[in-house]
Amino acid sequence: MEHLSLFSYTHTCKVLSLKLMETLGWTSLLRCISMFLVFTSSSAKGSECESLSSPQCFRRNSETTFYVCEWRMNTTRRDVTFELHFDRTDNDISFENIRETHAEIVAENLITSRRVEFWVEAHAGGSVCKSNETSGILKQIVKFEAPEDISVTWFQNHLNVTWKAAENYPALAEVWFRIDETKSWGKRVKTTEFRSSKMAYQLSLENLQKHTSYQVKLRHRTNVTATPLWSEWSPLLIVPAELEDKLEVNVTLKRLEGARKVTLMWKPVDHAAAIPSVSYILRDTQTSEGCPCEKEEEIHPTDKTEYTDYVSYSPVNFSVMAKNAAGSSPVTVVHIPAEPAPHLKPCNKKLADAKRNETNHCLEWYRLQDGDLKLVARKTKRDKRLFRKSIKDYVGYIYFEHLCIDEKPKTVQMCLYYKKENVPKIAPQDLLAFNETHNSVTLTWKAIPEDDARGFLTRYNVCSVKINLQKEHIECHTVAASLSEYSLENLTPGTKYNFTVAGVTKAGEGPKATVTLKTQHLNLMKGWLILALVMAFLFIFLLMVCSCIWKKMKKKILVPLPKPPILELSAHQGKSVHQDMLEENEEVVNEVTLHKLLPKEEEDLEETTMSLNRDDTQQALRSSKEEEMTNTEQEDVLALLRYRKGLIFEMKTDEC
Ligand SMILES: *[C@@H]1O[C@H](CO)[C@@H](O)[C@H](O)[C@H]1NC(C)=O
Ligand SMILES: *[C@@H]1O[C@H](CO)[C@@H](O)[C@H](O)[C@H]1NC(C)=O
Ligand SMILES: *[C@@H]1O[C@H](CO)[C@@H](O)[C@H](O)[C@H]1NC(C)=O
Repeated sequence: MEHLSLFSYTHTCKVLSLKLMETLGWTSLLRCISMFLVFTSSSAKGSECESLSSPQCFRRNSETTFYVCEWRMNTTRRDVTFELHFDRTDNDISFENIRETHAEIVAENLITSRRVEFWVEAHAGGSVCKSNETSGILKQIVKFEAPEDISVTWFQNHLNVTWKAAENYPALAEVWFRIDETKSWGKRVKTTEFRSSKMAYQLSLENLQKHTSYQVKLRHRTNVTATPLWSEWSPLLIVPAELEDKLEVNVTLKRLEGARKVTLMWKPVDHAAAIPSVSYILRDTQTSEGCPCEKEEEIHPTDKTEYTDYVSYSPVNFSVMAKNAAGSSPVTVVHIPAEPAPHLKPCNKKLADAKRNETNHCLEWYRLQDGDLKLVARKTKRDKRLFRKSIKDYVGYIYFEHLCIDEKPKTVQMCLYYKKENVPKIAPQDLLAFNETHNSVTLTWKAIPEDDARGFLTRYNVCSVKINLQKEHIECHTVAASLSEYSLENLTPGTKYNFTVAGVTKAGEGPKATVTLKTQHLNLMKGWLILALVMAFLFIFLLMVCSCIWKKMKKKILVPLPKPPILELSAHQGKSVHQDMLEENEEVVNEVTLHKLLPKEEEDLEETTMSLNRDDTQQALRSSKEEEMTNTEQEDVLALLRYRKGLIFEMKTDEC
């Protein structure tokens, strides 16, 4: 066989071989063949032969028994066939008539555990090209496929890169990364971790900036064999920045008949996190529960930053998050509570028990808990049975009935359901009384919580009880259950009262809350005091007004007087003299008044007056004396003197 195959390759060496075989053996013969082949290849068309690369032969991983050989040739000719040759000192293996630039060979047909040379020959027409030789121990040559299924996630400032494992061992990876074309590549060579659960390689690129987007490419090779080859590079991967923050979602609710239109709006994520794209994922609990509208798709991915949907009156949770190639943001849960119905009506007893078979009916029972509604049961038969089993006496369930109309939910029933009612467990809390006037009191209290009402609260009983009366006097009023304030009128002033408030259900009245308060006395003293103060003020005011009027009138009423000369005098002589004079004049007036009562002593009066009033005054008086004063003239003098006294008075009260 060996002889035959050899002869088929070459005739030139035939003679030589026969001679050499005896002296040098097989090795020399093979060298002869090689030399011949080199000769023939160099004689073929130069340019095309130059483009024929030497082959690479390898396994795709260290576990397989399949070998792959690859080479390249740049030719436009279609009739090219290749021959792949594996050299061996005592054997030669060739694979002919290969039409591709690669071949797969099973291990059995190859020598894998020993170093061999291998090359490829291209045959086209009559010419032959031979590639350069490669050598190696085939078993040790492993070349992975280019990394596939690459995914990236940020973990703080580390970028975790995961991709499909080529074999069940950790590998070596080379990762290049850059922010963009203007920046240089960062390069890392690292041993990957092998995740057997996911059949994946994983490595972490430390100390990157998670707020930045990156371009990443990588290649890998086995760590198991001695002479591995690097795989081809992966395609360039765009890694967006981390979606670190929850989306801030704004909710707008519009109440419609039996439904609510919900509009969710959020701010788009940063540009670096939206490369090459970002999508927003929404889920809502009503759709996912298929109540009342069955929808096929419960996730609504969108690239918009707004979403509108219709929900029933029962509570619903929307969850919103952003997702990009490097992960997703934390989930924002938007809780939309049940449509507030402060005055829920009691359910028709039959309603909850009724067997409703309508398929588009969605029945729900909720329980009030911590100020919100918690689902107890939904329409499914199982749920209903569970509901019946778990339903308790004296517990209020909020019952909903929804329909799905034109793929939109509509709530048609919402009521409060009690299997059995009891009186309220507790009294209304925080009862306070405010005594505004002597005969009225306003009471305020906190509504009895649903949990403690133990029945449908129909009203409050508000009563007033007079204390310290031999005969107890109770007066009661009915107050709507929706109120928590009530004013009691027409109470007796100055009386101690007990005021009580109690919740009432179908089963009766619950415990009473009591507050004791004494109404104010009808306080007359207070009124009088105010009246007196007002009167006093009025009196003072009137007094001042009168005095002013009097002074104004006085000038007109009093007899006009000649100009008192004393005023001129005082103007000339200065203030101190004027004051002295005034004092003196006062004395004079007193004397004159005395004399007026005794008219016979007029002479004395004149003399005294004259002796006191010097200069001009004396002259004036003398002249008047010379003219022989009549009675009326005397009166004038007296008036003048009186007038002067009045002047003193006037000067003191001139500020009016
Ligand atoms: C292949 O040949 C063409 C023309 O001969 C040349 O333009 C091209 O660059 C060559 N390609 C390679 C990979 O050598
Ligand atoms: C809705 O969200 C609230 C908190 O936001 C949670 O308590 C409740 O269990 C959620 N309900 C559903 C049906 O997921
Ligand atoms: C008034 O209230 C007090 C305290 O709650 C109670 O002790 C008292 O018996 C009540 N009096 C009447 C007349 O109801």
